[in-house]
Amino acid sequence: MKIKAFAPATVANVCCGFDVLGFAVNFPGDEVILTLNMSREVTLSKIVGDGGRLPLDATKNTAGVAVQSFLKSIGKREGVEIELYKNLPLGSGMGSSAASGVAALVAINHLMGNPLTRGQLVVHAMEAERIACGSAHADNVAPCLMGGFVLVRDYNPLDVVKIPATKNLYATLVHPHIELKTSDSRRVLKPTVNLKDAIAQTGNIAGLMIGLTTEDYSLISRSLKDTIAEPIRSAFIPGFEQVREVAVKAGALGSGISGSGPTMFALSPDHALAEKVGEVMQLEFLKSNLKSEVYVSKVNQEGARILD
Ligand code: HSE
Repeated sequence: MKIKAFAPATVANVCCGFDVLGFAVNFPGDEVILTLNMSREVTLSKIVGDGGRLPLDATKNTAGVAVQSFLKSIGKREGVEIELYKNLPLGSGMGSSAASGVAALVAINHLMGNPLTRGQLVVHAMEAERIACGSAHADNVAPCLMGGFVLVRDYNPLDVVKIPATKNLYATLVHPHIELKTSDSRRVLKPTVNLKDAIAQTGNIAGLMIGLTTEDYSLISRSLKDTIAEPIRSAFIPGFEQVREVAVKAGALGSGISGSGPTMFALSPDHALAEKVGEVMQLEFLKSNLKSEVYVSKVNQEGARILD
């Protein structure tokens, strides 16, 4: 009655898909250990790796909230103890809050005999996101649960679609050592979008969908642009333009902000190139006196998984 689960980092938005597109990587990610007990309460016994910054209160922690939402929906009042092992940095734009919630959800679903599909778990993970940043966006949690590139076609009612995308893409994630809260990065956005920007964004997201499904690298490359969030948020990332430029010059198909930042991502058609892109991006961040971590991974196809 004890289980360990892993949920990976995710790149939300992918430039042109603000709040509607994301993909998962293989690592890094968060881990949880869930143990059933007789208490009929959901509790967090420990969190490792957060520097004491995350709440142990299960009604305020993404892992606790996700498990509570899940149990309520299946009409069970189980006692669950959660241990959370954070490997993803907080406020990084790598889907840290999503990974904790999703790992806990996949674990509790498994312990209960998998009553819900991965797609059906998305709403519960969204509740965790609401607690974490005030907005129940699904573009991290859906790919974290389902793997690959996932489109949130609609939020009301929720319609989440796994894209039959090429499996031959490698992601470079470069996490500069600054922290941005998603809630802050959302607050700065304008509530309305002008028609010209909306047209450009629509063309690019449609182009990216076609590029991904037909493995048209040139089309993917032309479509990795964001006219909505990036023009505003890039100001919070020192050297943003230059970092993106060196990534593309080195051969990446495109580069942009991962989720709400400050992590920047790039996509490449092969592993060696993705590594090289990471090196040049890291060097470029150093010019702004920013140290960073680089993660290179194939786009993850399975999403979160049970470890034992
Ligand atoms: N789509 C969300 C945002 C992702 O950009 O605010 C947050 O990780």
